Amino acid sequence: MKHLLKLGDLSREEILSVLNLADQLKYERKNGIFKEYLKGKKLGMIFQKSSTRTRVSFEAGMYELGGYALFLSSRDLQIGRGEPVEDTARVLSRNLDGIMIRTVAQKEVEDLAKYGTVPVINGLTDYCHPCQVLADLMTIRERKGSFKGLKLCFVGDGNNMANSLLVGAVKTGMRFAIACPKGYEPDAALLAWAKENGEFLMTESVEEAAEGADVLYTDVWASMGQEEERERRMRAFSSFRIDDAVMRVAKRDAMVLHCLPAHRGEEITAEVFEAHADEIFEEAENRLHAQKAIMCKLMRDRA
Ligand code: CP
Ligand code: NVA
Repeated sequence: MKHLLKLGDLSREEILSVLNLADQLKYERKNGIFKEYLKGKKLGMIFQKSSTRTRVSFEAGMYELGGYALFLSSRDLQIGRGEPVEDTARVLSRNLDGIMIRTVAQKEVEDLAKYGTVPVINGLTDYCHPCQVLADLMTIRERKGSFKGLKLCFVGDGNNMANSLLVGAVKTGMRFAIACPKGYEPDAALLAWAKENGEFLMTESVEEAAEGADVLYTDVWASMGQEEERERRMRAFSSFRIDDAVMRVAKRDAMVLHCLPAHRGEEITAEVFEAHADEIFEEAENRLHAQKAIMCKLMRDRA
């Protein structure tokens, strides 16, 4: 593993190995054991979009590993004024041991890795959100024991979350079903890949997708950067939510996950959200453990 640009770059074994290390780090932290696996290492965190969980978990995680994290808002960086990514990559590589970037275009993340010489971690693009899905997989395995025989159902926008969840489900052997409106499907190449490589269903019926599901997942109807489409999206997604009726067709012990932030009354009802808050906030906590594992895998053995 040289970078984490998208989940599809990782093999099943690499994913499981990140999850195993994340479990170990969570156990150590619970028992007050903090080993400085990344002592003296520096991570730059470029943010072109807002963040609560990603920023805090990378910063806290790096501190716990004995390293240092720099918050770099693209509003303040020269990249926000048009300095090319290939120059930014080369400068940052001479100062830092790793770069995390949250931005719009996947290509920018790929270019950072191409022109830089240190590991690059994708902290969300419009295309995918691999760090989130590694934490999601960790939470599913923690609660369900294994991925074997599980059905994961995503309700809502075929966006960055759906793209990464689809890859995560197929790679770990879960069945994946998505209910989304026409015109809001996941990435076409990923859909074709999922059909070839896994058990996959796409439908406009939320009930059909949720039938017998072990895990229900949803995300906001309008993602960051889509604020102007909000009205149109509210109409298109009005029936694509997780509510009591959806819970009734899923397995009785189905868990509910949400990457957060959540909009109660839109993609999820307040009742379902609160009934599953334990799982959802464990999932949010697992961002810390999963990302510590990712940083160790990518940055630990570098000279
Ligand atoms: N889920 C997630 O990435 O949250 P933030 O946008 O707060 O980082
Ligand atoms: N789809 C959401 C995910 C936020 C973590 C967004 O891109 O805004």
